[in-house]
Amino acid sequence: MVLPLEEDSVEELLLEEIFLLEWEIADHDRRYYGEADPAISDGDYDALRRRLDSLLAQHPHLAGEREPRKVGDDRREKFQKRRHLLPMRSLSNTYNAEELEQFIHRVERAAGREVDFVLEPKIDGAALTLVFRDGELIYALTRGNGEEGDDVTANVLTIKNLPMKISAVSGGMLEVRGEVYVGREDFLRINGEREADGFGPFANARNLAAGSLKLLSSSAAASRCLRFIAYEMGFGDGSFSSHTEVLDALRLWNFPTNEGRIARGFSAIWEHIGRLGTSRRDYPFDTDGIVLKVNDRKLREKLGSQAAAPRWAIAYKFSPERAETVLEDIRLQVGRTGVVTPVAELSPVHLAGSTVRHATLHNADEIMRKDLRIGDTVVLEKAGEIIPAVVAVRKEKRPMGAVVYVYPGNCPACSTPLVRIGGEVAHRCLNPDCPPQIHRRIAHFASRGAMDINSLGPQRIEQLLQFGLIRHFSDIFRLDGERLANLPRMGEKSAQKLLDSIAPAKRRPLWRLLHGLGIPHVGAETAKLLVKKWPSMNSFMSLGEEELLACEGIGAIVAASIFNFFQDDDNRRLIGELASLGLRLEEIPETTTAESSHFSGKKFAISGSFKEFAREELIRSIEARGGTVRSAVSVKIDALIVGDGPGSKLPEAERLGIPIIGVDVLLRWFSAEGPWE
Ligand code: IVH
Repeated sequence: MVLPLEEDSVEELLLEEIFLLEWEIADHDRRYYGEADPAISDGDYDALRRRLDSLLAQHPHLAGEREPRKVGDDRREKFQKRRHLLPMRSLSNTYNAEELEQFIHRVERAAGREVDFVLEPKIDGAALTLVFRDGELIYALTRGNGEEGDDVTANVLTIKNLPMKISAVSGGMLEVRGEVYVGREDFLRINGEREADGFGPFANARNLAAGSLKLLSSSAAASRCLRFIAYEMGFGDGSFSSHTEVLDALRLWNFPTNEGRIARGFSAIWEHIGRLGTSRRDYPFDTDGIVLKVNDRKLREKLGSQAAAPRWAIAYKFSPERAETVLEDIRLQVGRTGVVTPVAELSPVHLAGSTVRHATLHNADEIMRKDLRIGDTVVLEKAGEIIPAVVAVRKEKRPMGAVVYVYPGNCPACSTPLVRIGGEVAHRCLNPDCPPQIHRRIAHFASRGAMDINSLGPQRIEQLLQFGLIRHFSDIFRLDGERLANLPRMGEKSAQKLLDSIAPAKRRPLWRLLHGLGIPHVGAETAKLLVKKWPSMNSFMSLGEEELLACEGIGAIVAASIFNFFQDDDNRRLIGELASLGLRLEEIPETTTAESSHFSGKKFAISGSFKEFAREELIRSIEARGGTVRSAVSVKIDALIVGDGPGSKLPEAERLGIPIIGVDVLLRWFSAEGPWE
């Protein structure tokens, strides 16, 4: 028989639960805000908070004298602290339509009328305040504890889409608030590079943005491609009577903003949320919900704020999409730098609009931490909306005999013993002749972000490797048309097409070649920095670590990596081979390419195709000379460039009397003005 508990014991159990919840939440806050490395999903975190809130609401006497709940604290020791001019609050949130409706009714009751709400996407990044004095940016702060934040100005200055000066404000201070984020494509690229370098990947774009703001080297921060979207003003917004006016002013000052849609009444709002729930996948950044804000600033004042969040706004959060499936196997994948990544082979399952068959498990520690066994039922979540991640194991569903995964000691491709270097989380295969490494190095070299050889996709590379036509990327430039044409599924035409797409790669800008070499820690941004300072391969091949370190934007790890790469005899030999094969190892000074009388400031349209170059190449070359290319013919176009088989643009240009340029003229212009790009 179960005896009813004494009232005192119930209280004690409740108190204990409250204590444990607070303790757990504080720990997650520390990981989320302080270290940008949350251990649980947002949904699970919010469930903890909701449980705590409801316990305290039901038993207010247990709340005692405790401090009112504060927003998470992201402050770190090494940053200078500054006070916000106005407190920087967070948002209350809900996952639930009913709670959303209650919120709307509460606001309407307080207003005594229907209320206009502005609906904005909730960007999943890190909050930032920019402080302007007399229209000039003077510093930038993270939220910190809401009262004071960390001064991250140096890193914020690397954000490209940020106005440093704003026109309208004179004689006063102004706080512009918004979100710093990393776009999805940049997130994927940066994580790919990180994994190739042997570091653990970022769980999602938000952690990457938050972590990057707290980097001590602003050049490292620059390589993270941070962006900003403004959505509120703090101090200095007194003259505006509505939120839409604030958004208009921010736009006028050239801040990127999101569209704010006005809606009133629950059903209109709900309908709009449904629409945004679908279109959010088209945004170039992650969103995790919709923010509803009262438009009327007077009503905002009347509603006021609680300790952590205002009463005039709420975030309706999308539940992360989840699915359960079975872990069939774990396969090891070898990257171009030898880093070995375990990949989960899953029973196919539908998740957020696509069928998922694989998910990365990142490294051996991750498999141990989750205690993953082959045959387990696992929970998948789309982290950052795009990449499926295994977030939990349903241990209660574990079948008898589920197999513990033993991390292999040898490379699955070439059997070389795997090693862990220094503090790296990743295992590596150190055999440079390991086949998948060779394949991936070549694929990286030819990729769009590096040498941009578009006919050299993964299957083509595999074929060339298989038939022994290439072993290293220098061999790409030795390919012979006859041998190529004799390959299965090739033929003369494809062989010629491949050679045509390889030839212009010899004259790519030097940073592309440097990036393509695959030097650990040298991505496109670092390569550009190096080339800017030392515009020839010879000049930085002989640099010492000290000299490299003196370059703004190059840290100790990168300097050591570059130095070691060029110390290696094989690598030096490779550079020599590339030079003898006719690759451009010098950067052409910018003045000869950037300014050009034929192209600079001119607008072009293109029709037809060209034997001499790929269309993208033509566009890039025009842009490098200061011209722009438009997709349609109109009176605004300065000339139409015509190749083989032009379409309807040609008669349209003739009708409008727009000059028409053939390939001969184009080539003459290019050769008069220096090489491509
Ligand atoms: S308004 C006092 N608008 O979400 C209200 N916040 O989870 C200030 N966020 O702290 C915030 N998109 O970092 C606002 N359109 C948006 C937002 C947004 C993302 C972030 C912001 C906030 C957090 C709350």
